Amino acid sequence: MAQRRWLVTGGLGFIGSAFVRLVLRERDDVAVTVLDALTYAGNPANVAEVAGDPRYRFVQGDIADAVRVDEAVGDGVDAIVNFAAETHVDRSILDPEAFIRTDVLGTHVLLEAVRRHGIARYLQVSTDEVYGHVESGVSTEADPVCPRSPYAASKAGGDLQVLAYHTTYETPVLITRGSNTYGPYQYPEKLIPLFVTNLLEGEQVPVYGDGLQVRDWLHVDDHARGIAHVLEHGTPGHVYNLGGGNSRTNIELTRELIRLTGRSFDESVRYVTDRPGHDRRYALDATKARSLGWFPRVDFANGLADTVAWYRAREDWWRPIKSGAFRDYYRRQYALR
Ligand code: DAU
Repeated sequence: MAQRRWLVTGGLGFIGSAFVRLVLRERDDVAVTVLDALTYAGNPANVAEVAGDPRYRFVQGDIADAVRVDEAVGDGVDAIVNFAAETHVDRSILDPEAFIRTDVLGTHVLLEAVRRHGIARYLQVSTDEVYGHVESGVSTEADPVCPRSPYAASKAGGDLQVLAYHTTYETPVLITRGSNTYGPYQYPEKLIPLFVTNLLEGEQVPVYGDGLQVRDWLHVDDHARGIAHVLEHGTPGHVYNLGGGNSRTNIELTRELIRLTGRSFDESVRYVTDRPGHDRRYALDATKARSLGWFPRVDFANGLADTVAWYRAREDWWRPIKSGAFRDYYRRQYALR
């Protein structure tokens, strides 16, 4: 019998759905309501394995719509975990407005719902991109936000509202800031799923600029576990960095993906025009989350090999995505590069 009720917004996206699967698998006393707008990256197939669980409920709707949010809260929830967001940097460069609506206004609407309904906990899923790029060293939670893309700026706007609600109204909020996340069910616009599926299709992969940008990789199951851990053990008003500790240049990572898919480097890599304002490096200090008892469990080499194997086995999942509206996006994004 479920004693805790959690509202998971954006629960049909990549990290949100991993969280929903994890919670229903590992916590018998939790019931989950997913509120998801089913925009391009939300996909019911991501939760197919748990959708029949009586503790699972789905409401379609946008977090910026207060009426829908109230419907999803229903007769009460103990916590809201907000995964709903526009998340792709390249899309934010083409169309920033959608990011402001969901990441800034949507966050505000959820915070108001927390106040109105007296919800005991609100967790905002955020990103290391709010710190801006770090040429050397690591970002700690005490560092100021310094976002450099429209995406990062809208996420920072959301985070600042969350923290201001804590200061002003004592709203019981938490923020997690994750590093680059990879694993099954990731929409194939991001580096790893785009490159893996292109390679499996025998296509080239578009490497931006010199490919020497650095990202720190975290497996989606570790990310989801970290969010659940902070929700249950974190101190309200605090921010927790969730870093994978697996820093790689994009070209090193590309080389590894090419090896895992059995393709040749020279035939597969196409260097293309760099992303405008491209952040050179992100690196997180995750000491604070580790002192709370969370640590990543998935070894990067194994996680990457399993991820490639998953995309190899699950063409039924990604082929329909890549043949639909994605094609127009890909042309728009890459044709002129
Ligand atoms: O760091 C956390 C962030 O990681 C999340 O907040 C974002 O939602 C997520 O999109 C991701 O941002 P990035 O911009 O780092 O991820 P992306 O997969 O788009 O790109 C990773 C790196 O690969 C980046 O340096 C750009 C480069 N890249 C990406 C694409 C899609 C390429 O060289 N070619 C590509 O086609």
